[in-house]
This record gives sequence, structure tokens and C-alpha cells, in this order.
Amino acid sequence: MTTGGRIIGWGTALPDKVLTNDDLSAMMDTNDQWITERTGIKRRHVGGSTSSLSVASAQRAIAMAGVDPSSIDVLVLSTTTPDRTVPATSATVQNALGLRCGAFDVNAACSGFVYAYVIAHGLLSIGAKRALVIGTDTLSRITDWSDRGTAILFADGSGACVVDATADSGQLLGWDLDADGSLEHLLYAEVGGSIHMDGKEVFRRAVRIMVDSAHKSLAKAGLGVDDVALCVPHQANARIIDAACRQLGIPLERTAVVLHETGNTSSASIPLALFDAADRGRLNDGDIVLMVGFGAGMTAASAVVEWRKP
Ligand code: UT7
Repeated sequence: MTTGGRIIGWGTALPDKVLTNDDLSAMMDTNDQWITERTGIKRRHVGGSTSSLSVASAQRAIAMAGVDPSSIDVLVLSTTTPDRTVPATSATVQNALGLRCGAFDVNAACSGFVYAYVIAHGLLSIGAKRALVIGTDTLSRITDWSDRGTAILFADGSGACVVDATADSGQLLGWDLDADGSLEHLLYAEVGGSIHMDGKEVFRRAVRIMVDSAHKSLAKAGLGVDDVALCVPHQANARIIDAACRQLGIPLERTAVVLHETGNTSSASIPLALFDAADRGRLNDGDIVLMVGFGAGMTAASAVVEWRKP
């Protein structure tokens, strides 16, 4: 009886087009110093579609895993920016990758990749053998480029992994999924509209809900913050990451940060940071990884993973 899952390959994709803080300063009343000091972001990638970025990251993940695409029996795509309202973007991605399997989208905003990863484990525990989990967003398509309060933050990207069923309990040791819909007015976009955000209020709540969620996952795993070799937080704002890690008691040397290069890519943010750390050799067999995100909804999600080299 299979009960768990294990990542056997991963891939990421960023659009070619780069927007620096100076590029933004030419478009609106802002400047590199303000953006750097208040957010930590220096540049971000924009362009492409959610399906095209998903296909690119997934192809890399499948190639690294060295598996036949036909062996994938479920595809979970986390996105808050689907190509179209109907059908799910996962259908487009499935067809482009040549898969024949169950495929669906998950929208839990910036917590979405962790949601998708946990959902995939649920499916592996009831008989699926191999899952493809993708987190992709193209927030530049729903950004109001005249609003300096949001345009400096959001960007596009994708991260994907192949997760195999295991005969043992696998690498997911603890998880937490949460949402508080009463706070939806803090961060939203109407259908066809652009993002509206109460940045200060999101900031204030983000730190608390990330810390709470991380504690819940660690408690489920029977572990403490000192066991965490690498914390992979949602890449929203360097000050949010600093504050959350300080409250958790995890030093920044044990935290994965890529947002200076990527901006806030929502569903892609955690996989971009996690797989960047893995590609840089920052993860060893048996390391405890804590992924923790928050987002519109207001959602929160965390997962404690025992890293296994594929
Ligand atoms: O995935 C979840 C997504 N959302 C988030 O994580 C957002 C969380 N919030 C944030 O990251 C921050 O609240 C922001 C980066 C959005 C804003 O930073 P802040 O430190 O909260 O700035 P603020 O809104 O309080 O603005 C401070 C000042 C204001 O000027 P005054 O009133 O002090 O004269 C703003 O008008 O900075 C001004 N300002 C800017 N100046 C230059 C606001 N945006 C900009 C800008 N460039 N882009």
C-alpha cells in the first residue's frame, strides 16, 4: 500500500523579458531605492502565458525525473491567473505535454503551490502513482501598471515537480492549509479586472499567519524550528520574510530568497525559491525543509518536507 510521496525531479521557468526597478521608475512615480528598501525586489520577469510557462517548467521536471510522460497519472496546476476562465489551464498544459491523466487547477492564490503539493499527496495515498505538481502565475496580466502600490511587486514565473508514490510514509511529514474568506477585500481582482490590495494590512497579517501555519505544520511533524535546515517562504516582500523568520527563530542563512530576481510570482514563488536552493546544492539528504506561504483569500499553507535527493 502506498502512503506517501517523494519529489523525483523539478524544473522552473521565467519569461525572458526583465523589468528592473529603473524600468519601472521610467513608467511611474517610484525609484530603485524605495523599491529595494521597502520590498527587497531589484528586478522581475514578465511575459508569456500561464500554460506556456507551465509547459516549460514541467518539461524540465519530467526530463530531470527521467520518466515517460505517459506514466504521470495526475496533474495539479496551481494558478490564480489561468489562460482562460474555461477550461482549466491544466487541460492546455496536459495536452501540450502529451499526458493522458486527470488534470485540474487549484486557486489558493500565493499559497497555491503548497495546496497543490499537499493535494497531490492525498491522491498518491489513495492509489495515484505519479503526480505532476505545477505552480505558475502571470500576474503581470492582471497588474494595474499605473498603480505603484502593486506594479512594483508582481511578476510571472513557474515551478514544477514530479512526485512519485512511495511504499513508506514519504517525505511530507506535516502540513497545514488555512483560509479566512472574511479578509478577501484586502487583496482581490474581479473577473477581467486588475489586482487591488491593501498593502499595509496584508503585510501586517501575513507575518502572523505564516508564523501560525509554520508552527502547526511543525507540530504535526513532531519537529521544532531548530530542526529546519531550510525555510522556503512565499517571496512577497523581504521585510515580511525577515519578520516571519525572526518570529519563528529561523536565521536568514537558513532561508531561501529569490525575490530580488523574481518579484512576487504568487503560485511560482515557493517552487522557484525551493528549486533554486536545490540547484545550488543547498539541500542535503535528510534535511528538513519548511515551505510556508500566504495569499489572497486570505489563505495560508505550510508543509514540512524531509528532503531526499532524487
Ligand atoms: O502575495 C501577497 C501579496 N501582497 C503582499 O505581500 C503585500 C504586502 N505589503 C507590502 O509589501 C507593502 O505594504 C508595500 C510594499 C506594498 C508598501 O510598503 P509600505 O512600507 O507598506 O509603504 P506604504 O504603503 O505605507 O507607503 C509609504 C510611503 C507613502 O508615502 P507617504 O504617505 O509616507 O508620503 C506612499 O505613498 O511610500 C509611498 N509609496 C511609494 N513611493 C515610491 C508607496 N508606493 C511607492 C512606490 N514608490 N512604489
